[in-house]
Amino acid sequence: MTNAALLPRPLVTRVAGTAPWRGVAAPEPGAHGVIVTRHPGAAESYRLRVDESGIEISAADDAGVFYAGRTLAQLATRDGEGWVVPAIEIEDAPRFRHRGFMLDVARHFFPVEVVTALIDRLSDLKLNVLHLHLSDDQGWRLAMATRPLLTERASATAALGDAGGFYTADDYRTIVAHATSRHMTVVPEIDMPGHTHAVSLAYPDIACDPVLSPHIDEVVAAYGGGVPTRDEPYTGFAVGFSSLRTDLEETYDFVRDVVGELAALTPGPYLHLGGDEALGTDRADFDRFVARAARLVIDAGKIPVTWHEAGTTPDLPEGTVGQYWGFRTPIEGMDEKARGFVRRGGRVILSPADAIYLDMKPDADEPLGLTWADGPTSLERSYDWDPAEVVPGVAEADILGVEAAMWTETVRTAADIDRLIWPRLASAAEKAWSPRGIDAADFHGRVARIAWRPLGGVS
Ligand code: ACM
Repeated sequence: MTNAALLPRPLVTRVAGTAPWRGVAAPEPGAHGVIVTRHPGAAESYRLRVDESGIEISAADDAGVFYAGRTLAQLATRDGEGWVVPAIEIEDAPRFRHRGFMLDVARHFFPVEVVTALIDRLSDLKLNVLHLHLSDDQGWRLAMATRPLLTERASATAALGDAGGFYTADDYRTIVAHATSRHMTVVPEIDMPGHTHAVSLAYPDIACDPVLSPHIDEVVAAYGGGVPTRDEPYTGFAVGFSSLRTDLEETYDFVRDVVGELAALTPGPYLHLGGDEALGTDRADFDRFVARAARLVIDAGKIPVTWHEAGTTPDLPEGTVGQYWGFRTPIEGMDEKARGFVRRGGRVILSPADAIYLDMKPDADEPLGLTWADGPTSLERSYDWDPAEVVPGVAEADILGVEAAMWTETVRTAADIDRLIWPRLASAAEKAWSPRGIDAADFHGRVARIAWRPLGGVS
C-alpha cells in the first residue's frame, strides 16, 4: 500500500552510483540489480519488493514500471556515493485514472522550461494529467496558424501589467512530448464563452462589450488593475465581464478553427472548453453556445470537458466530462450541475476550491495568493475531504479523478509556484492515487519527509 511506502524499515539494499530511477527515468531492467517483469493487472499498477538480494518490480504496463520508480525515488536515501533503499513489499494501484494539475498560463505566462520541470515534479507524485489553461481575459498563449491575430494582438501582457508570452506550436509539441515521456496526458483548455477579453482584442467582431458589475468595482477597489475596456489589454483580476457573441455564425467558425487546430496538436483524448463564470452571457445563449462548442470538440475527435457550470445545459453531448470547482460542501446548486454530467453518461473531475485550489493562501500572512475559497487553505484542510463524499450522487464510479489547480493572478515566477503548491500538492496527489480512509496523521508524517525539488531555479 502506498501509505506504508514511506515508513522506515531496515536499510538493506545498497545501490552504487546514480540509481536508475533517480531523476525521472523508469528503472531499467538489469541495471543495479533491478528485476522488472510484467503481470496482468489494473492499468498503472505495480508490485515492488526490496530485500537483501535486490529490487524486484512487477508491473501491468510501462506506466506501472515508471510509478514503481517514483516510489523507489521516495524511498531511497543518500549513502556516501550511492543510495540505500529500505526493505519493503508494496502492491500499489491508483484509485482514479485522472490525477491532474491545472496550470494557468494565461494570467501569467510560464516558459517551456518551467512547464517541463513542473511535469517532472508532478509525475514524481504520480500525477498523470497536465491541464493547461491557455486563454483568459489577460492573454492568449498558443499560436494558432488559423487565427494568427490571437497571439499577435493578445499575448504581450499579463496580470499585474507584467510581460506576457505565448507558445509556438513547436513549444506546445515539446511540452506534450515531455509529458508523454512521463506518462502524462496534456489537456488543453480554451476558455469560452466568458474569460475571452483577449479574443476581443484580436477578433473584436465576435466579442461583446465588457459587461460591468458591482463585482468588478469590488475587485478594482481591492486589487487595482482598472476597469476592463474594449480594445485595451486587461491586466486586473476581475472575472465574468467578457463574452463571445453567441448569435453569430462567425463565432462558431472561430471555435471550429481553434478547436480543430488544438485537437490536431494534442494526442490526448480530451479538450477543455471552459464554460465557467460566463456572467456576461445570457443563460439561454450560454446553453446554446456550450452545447454547440462541445459538439465541435467531438467533431474534432476529442471528448469535451467543461467546468461544472455547463452541467445543466440541456443539449450538452452525452459523455461530456465535468470539472467541479465548488467547495467540499457544495453551495449554490453546484452539486446539481456536477450531477448533470453523470446523468448524461459523463464523469466528473473533482477540484474542490477550498481544498486543492493551490493559489489560495496557505495562511493569512502569505503575501501571494487569494482567499475567496473560504479564506486561507491550510495543509490540513487541503487533505480533509474524500472525493466520493463531495457531491451527493457523484459516487466513486462517476468520478474520473482529482485535479489540483494553480491559478496565477498573483503568481509571477516559478519560485512563486513552488511557494504555493508545496506541500499542499501532496494532498491532491494522495486523494487522486491512494485508497480512501488513510489517517490524516499518517499522511502528515509522510509528507514531511518528501523532498520537493524547487522549480525556482529553472526560469
Ligand atoms: C474557476 O475557478 N473559475 C474554474
